[in-house]
Amino acid sequence: MTTRLNIGCGAVWQPDWINLDIQPSVPSVRQWDATQGLPCGDGEVDVCYASHVVEHLHPADAEGLLRQCHRVLKDRGIVRIVVPDLEAIAREYVSALDRVDRGDAQAACDHKWIVMELLDQMVRTRSGGEMLRYLTSGTIPNEAFVKSRIGSDAEDMMKHGPAASDPSLPVVQRGLVRRLRDALSQSGSITRVARYAREEFAVLLCGALLGRHGSEAIREALFRTSGECHRWMYDRVSLKRLLEQSGFSKIRVCTAFESQIEGFASYGLDVVKGRIRKPDSLFMEGMKQRSSA
Ligand SMILES: C[S@@+](CC[C@H](N)C(=O)[O-])C[C@H]1O[C@@H](n2cnc3c(N)ncnc32)[C@H](O)[C@@H]1O
Repeated sequence: MTTRLNIGCGAVWQPDWINLDIQPSVPSVRQWDATQGLPCGDGEVDVCYASHVVEHLHPADAEGLLRQCHRVLKDRGIVRIVVPDLEAIAREYVSALDRVDRGDAQAACDHKWIVMELLDQMVRTRSGGEMLRYLTSGTIPNEAFVKSRIGSDAEDMMKHGPAASDPSLPVVQRGLVRRLRDALSQSGSITRVARYAREEFAVLLCGALLGRHGSEAIREALFRTSGECHRWMYDRVSLKRLLEQSGFSKIRVCTAFESQIEGFASYGLDVVKGRIRKPDSLFMEGMKQRSSA
């Protein structure tokens, strides 16, 4: 039997894979915190795939997860890791700076976007952050550039709409409305609503004990540990090093279209209808080889 793991799958789950996420969006996805090991025995798995997940973990947890991938994979099993490509972002940033210097009118918007790509998900304190604000602002002066960077994610965020951050609501209500709406629209609604109710109670309690600063601090802490924020970024050197340290060999950078995983293209994970789902990515694969363990 072939066993494939999609770790931190988000909304991109596959019916015949084991799909794991800390915040499952549908019942077919198993609630699982990838920093707590993987729910499989040694050498049981053929493929481990994690797209735009590793950068959400502390570097030590990222290495822990890759070591777990190595543990659960069969001999010659493949790990495929996809992350935002720090090198590409840095090159794009320098290029935007140079274009600003040369007086290119659109370059200032590209510069603004690329700085957001670099920093926003690391520092944001509310869902969507500055990127969502930019994409739902009505007019995006450099829409083609943004789409070339983050592909269908940009379109999804544009559709997301500004309702979640309705400025007419006070901050506390805004958070509550958004979180209850999200909770009710996802799997395990009752458990989620109960958890969110407990969290909102904790926010109120901190507010009562420590004032506004206390309630804002606990809300920020809850958000920043929800799985949305980035905790590190990788390029082809640091991701390769991480895979090597975790025991993998035959590590190589590939394109969205290439894979050593049998039938990978048929799953529509990195390429959907001929389009790369996350064009800002670095795609890297490694193999477990008994001799390299
Ligand atoms: C940027 S999304 C990527 C989703 C999907 N893999 C994709 O390529 O579109 C990051 C996902 O990682 C999940 N995640 C973050 N931390 C996690 C953890 N510790 N364990 C499991 N999933 C986690 C988040 O809930 C979120 O669904």
